[in-house]
Amino acid sequence: MTNFLSLADVTDLDALIQSGRDAKTNPFTDQHLGKNKTIGLLFFNSSLRTRLSTQKAAQNLGLNVITMNVGQDSWGLEMEEGVIMDSDKAEHVREAAAVIGRYCDIIGIRAFAGLQDRELDYKEQVMNQFAKYANVPIVNLESATRHPLQSLADCITIEEAKTKARPKVVLTWLPHFKPLPQAVANSFCEWMNARAHSGDVEFVVTHPKGYELAPEFVGNARIIYNQDEAFEGADFIYGKNWSSYTHYGQVLTKDPSWAVTMDDIRRSDNGKFMHCLPVRRNLKVSDQVLDSPHSLVIEQAANREWSAQAVLKEILKSL
Ligand code: CP
Repeated sequence: MTNFLSLADVTDLDALIQSGRDAKTNPFTDQHLGKNKTIGLLFFNSSLRTRLSTQKAAQNLGLNVITMNVGQDSWGLEMEEGVIMDSDKAEHVREAAAVIGRYCDIIGIRAFAGLQDRELDYKEQVMNQFAKYANVPIVNLESATRHPLQSLADCITIEEAKTKARPKVVLTWLPHFKPLPQAVANSFCEWMNARAHSGDVEFVVTHPKGYELAPEFVGNARIIYNQDEAFEGADFIYGKNWSSYTHYGQVLTKDPSWAVTMDDIRRSDNGKFMHCLPVRRNLKVSDQVLDSPHSLVIEQAANREWSAQAVLKEILKSL
């Protein structure tokens, strides 16, 4: 694996999920792989889980870790080519990526969507500019359109918790008062569609009209606009808010009836609740669900360490 930007960089998904599960059982088996190598973690946006779990995974593999909050600890970075640099961005990505690539053997990057310009966000400018100029592997720590380390952790979590060979997995939109990116939902669709294609899950998406995700992500997933109907027989309910893709970046409704409660869990097949976190309690999902045995959110976050370790191991093997 030379980059981990999306599912397209994964050659064997079953093996990668198993590698994460193996790392969870034996975290230090590959601690020699990263010896005398360095990973740089660049954050254009806030993080709790991604920052700590990726650092921990890197340390388990013997890597040295450097972390930087871009624009706060460093100069602001210009991503556009050929512009007169008279804005507040003092350094161009061409130099910055090349320089960081001299200090680091792998670079992880978090850079969210701006939600102002759909074409710009879906161009994945930050990831692609670093991939072009850094000359070292790039790991997506959540980009404008994808969060693949989260999706891999979600796959691991579903594999661990499933009680039947082909569980029903339902991605549901949740209410929120401010616009959030589509990255987690996009990625979850991408990875669940792959799992559905191999017969490992049945995948359903439910959301209010107007919240349709980009066609390249939602693929052949079954869309059910009635949330109650979608939850019938569900083994996993995966909650996430996202802003509209068609009316780009807009909040079209805050309908509280879309929040997940114990009534929804009762409608499912003894279903488990999943969310990538952070989650706003009683806005998106009730205390009763989060504090019940139906919630997998802590295990899901714990599995971020093992998804990162599986990916970094693949990259280190290719260096
Ligand atoms: N799920 C997730 O990526 O969490 P953070 O934003 O805290 O990293």
